[in-house]
Amino acid sequence: MCGIVGYIGAREAQSVLLQGLEKLEYRGYDSAGIAVYDGSVIRVKKRLGRLSNLEEQLNGHGLPGSVGIGHTRWATHGRPSDENAHPHEDCSGHFVVVHNGIIENYRMLREQLRREGHRFRSETDSEVVAHLIESLYDGDLLGTVLKAANRLRGAYALVVMSVREPDRLVAVRKHSPLVVGLGEGENFIASDIPALLSYTRRVYVLDEGEVADVTASRVACYRLDGTGVDKQVLEVTWDMAAAEKAGYEHFMLKEIYEQPKAIADTLTGRLAEDNRAVLPELGWDEDTARQIDRIHIIACGTAYHAGMVGRQILERLTRIPVEVEVASEYRYREPVYTENTLVIAVSQSGETADTLAALREAKSRGRRVLAITNVVGSSVAREADDVVITQAGPEIAVASTKAYTTQLVAFYLFACYLARLRGSADPEAIRGILEAVRGLPEAVSKVLDTAPAMKQFARRFAWKESAFFIGRGLDYVAALEGALKLKEISYIHAEAYAAGELKHGTLALIAEGVPVIALATQDHLYEKTVSNIKEVKARDAYVLALTWAGDGEMATVADEVLYLPRTNPWVAPVVVAVPLQLLAYYAAVERGNDVDKPRNLAKSVTVE
Ligand code: G6P
Repeated sequence: MCGIVGYIGAREAQSVLLQGLEKLEYRGYDSAGIAVYDGSVIRVKKRLGRLSNLEEQLNGHGLPGSVGIGHTRWATHGRPSDENAHPHEDCSGHFVVVHNGIIENYRMLREQLRREGHRFRSETDSEVVAHLIESLYDGDLLGTVLKAANRLRGAYALVVMSVREPDRLVAVRKHSPLVVGLGEGENFIASDIPALLSYTRRVYVLDEGEVADVTASRVACYRLDGTGVDKQVLEVTWDMAAAEKAGYEHFMLKEIYEQPKAIADTLTGRLAEDNRAVLPELGWDEDTARQIDRIHIIACGTAYHAGMVGRQILERLTRIPVEVEVASEYRYREPVYTENTLVIAVSQSGETADTLAALREAKSRGRRVLAITNVVGSSVAREADDVVITQAGPEIAVASTKAYTTQLVAFYLFACYLARLRGSADPEAIRGILEAVRGLPEAVSKVLDTAPAMKQFARRFAWKESAFFIGRGLDYVAALEGALKLKEISYIHAEAYAAGELKHGTLALIAEGVPVIALATQDHLYEKTVSNIKEVKARDAYVLALTWAGDGEMATVADEVLYLPRTNPWVAPVVVAVPLQLLAYYAAVERGNDVDKPRNLAKSVTVE
């Protein structure tokens, strides 16, 4: 996600800020900027694209001064552009802010501030913070930032500087990380420790709802209600590479563990308290929703599996016939459209060449296209008519994990939204599903506790030549994604089969000791799946079954059972995805593979 750096001391702030931002580049970003106080005014330079673009702009026109803030932006509100890049200023240029995260109530604040006469220059939620501080300022920057923070809703980290009090930086942490680096006669702020490591290893890690008042010679910390906090100094002992991965051995593992937060971020502002999916970015009316008579979902790889889950959810809730197809086939198939076919393009990166070509094919035939993507301002987002952004944050490992589960969440939200507008499903049923969706961050946190069990299983299983994944209904789709994950990074041949279809083919390959991962989370299909497990057991397969905690029967059928925290079977694909990701991960580690960069695969495939 976005990166924040702040400096106050005696060095040239510009070089400290740029170096710090470079250390945060691995997090992914689309624009960068810095602001430095030069003794009379704060000068701001910001640029779309890589840090090197900003550096080029600063070449020969540097910003002198020894107090400053910097930012790398990963767009969430407003496309990537020079104007939307941070830092953001108020009308007078006296208050300058950088911000990570999302200000949920920014629309309301922006309207209020606009009525008071404030002029906005960007499309971001972040800019409201600068204007809000300008409007509240009473001669005390720290007190004003506290007041402003208490009016902001959402998850964010902020750093504020001002010409009125140029000897301090004020930083706020609310659900988005911030650390203060402690120096001699100088201090630093950053959203992540790597940005500080070249200067200091002594840091204060701000806790939830804490504010730091940072001058060159002292750091004072407070809670949002203004009471003081005594912080313990943390001595950082890790090296740079470990710091980037926040202590995880691989990005993939870090991203697996980030899923509760990624899902919570994707739900932010989209789920009303009475369990209604709101999707303010679509703003459709009932007529728009009722007109749709067919849906085509197009995607590649893991995103295609998200689309397969999407089909089942959409069909069950809206009764609209849904087709789902890999984009590389769709684009050459001359698909048949009805007058009101909606096309949904799913793509983490928003740059996959086949998905983009399929989207263009649909657009050229006059169809409405809705994009589900993780990257604001990506080609898919720009060319679609409607966009639902997943808030997974940058995904670095080639094998997709948190992008996939947030795509599923986007489908649950969209299907429930569409069903409500069309009146096509029982409102109570929709509310029940959304209640389970709301509980997903917690359910996923709990299911992460299966890691030791999956690690142990993976150790024994890692040198098998092939594996089979079976399931029915939503479990079949979850099986497809589980098999893909395993193939991608462990290079074990894996095949997913609809459990009921086994006897029409794959059963011929089942022999003694062949591993079969059986998924049984769909209550209405449970008995059928148990029969299929018995079919493979009768051929001496070795079965690991995944089913809900509280089940009494599975242990008598399968060789091993992994119990999942019980939730609504509709959202099972999200919960089941986690142990299957862990299985693939630990098998790949056991085999000594390059987990984050598997052979022959790329993160973003922008060629056909
Ligand atoms: C590549 C990646 C996959 C990904 C697919 C689609 O093949 O290796 O992990 O699922 O592209 O990418 P997209 O960015 O369109 O979701």
